[in-house]
Amino acid sequence: MQSTVVPESERIITPAPKKRGRNETFEHLLGRLSHQSVAKHFDAYADIPWDDPAYRIDVEDPRWERTTDDPLGATEWYRTQPQAVRARIGLHSACAHMWIGVEFESVLKRGLLEFASTLRYDDPALRYCYHEVIEEAQHSLMFREFVIRSGLPVGGLDGTARAGARRVVKFGRDFPELFFMFVLGGEEPIDSVQREVLKSHKAELHPLIKRLMQIHVTEEARHLCFAREYLKRRVPSLGRAKMLQLGLLTPVILGQMARLMMKPPTRLLRHYDVPDDVIDEAYRDNPMHSAKTLESISKVRELCEELGVINRHAVHLWKRFGIWPEGRQLGVGAG
Ligand SMILES: [Fe+2]
Ligand SMILES: [Fe+2]
Repeated sequence: MQSTVVPESERIITPAPKKRGRNETFEHLLGRLSHQSVAKHFDAYADIPWDDPAYRIDVEDPRWERTTDDPLGATEWYRTQPQAVRARIGLHSACAHMWIGVEFESVLKRGLLEFASTLRYDDPALRYCYHEVIEEAQHSLMFREFVIRSGLPVGGLDGTARAGARRVVKFGRDFPELFFMFVLGGEEPIDSVQREVLKSHKAELHPLIKRLMQIHVTEEARHLCFAREYLKRRVPSLGRAKMLQLGLLTPVILGQMARLMMKPPTRLLRHYDVPDDVIDEAYRDNPMHSAKTLESISKVRELCEELGVINRHAVHLWKRFGIWPEGRQLGVGAG
């Protein structure tokens, strides 16, 4: 982390432990999260040694190869490709995911600013939102720099997705509860994948990707905390009509987000001539992939159950989008 001078006021507001947890007021939580954003934040250029030879990106580096616990990496087709192709596909998939992350963070920042525009100047949530917008901008800069240095092309959102993104941005102002569901739908899968990679591939990880992920999971912990706490405080006071809308739109958004975050774009797979039956084996008819997709949004699903967002009508949509665990009964009190 770069050395910055932290103002005295930010050094002394570390809360007493008894203030954390269930009894902590929302205002106090916002103060604590904002404080952490001052005391522990990262700069996309100053805090990553991009020009260190050890951080150089070589497209044929075997460390980019997908391992057998990856849906595509586990296929016979992938394992019988030449080493250079395996590495290139692995790196290209990482770049594609980073670019999806940049597109997601763009919607997130714009929506957060819409949300912030509804707050009073002295609302502590306004300060916290600005911290989050700044952090997301730094993440997008670091992901973009990674993609540029890889030399591999990435595509943007198509017209339909762009139109959908503009709608989500407006929710930041008109329907913040739905907007923060979208936020969790994007942030939780990315966070769960990055935490798993950091935990299980420690030794063989390229130092650049390791640094990016460490920075990202550190700052995302604050963002996830804010979105979850906001929802816990606001959803219970929603009226019937808004609650119905939230119940029906949440699985649609989460289902699409989980798919987007957990599978490489189809055009990338086509670029490498991955046969259709291999795509099916890896992503469509693969219980391991379905389980990982479910797991990636398990925390937001549990939160939705706790808040009564999943009722007996909406649960069909969760099933249709493949984000409801097989055999699971809707929790008591959630119907
Ligand atoms: Fe981020
Ligand atoms: Fe975030």
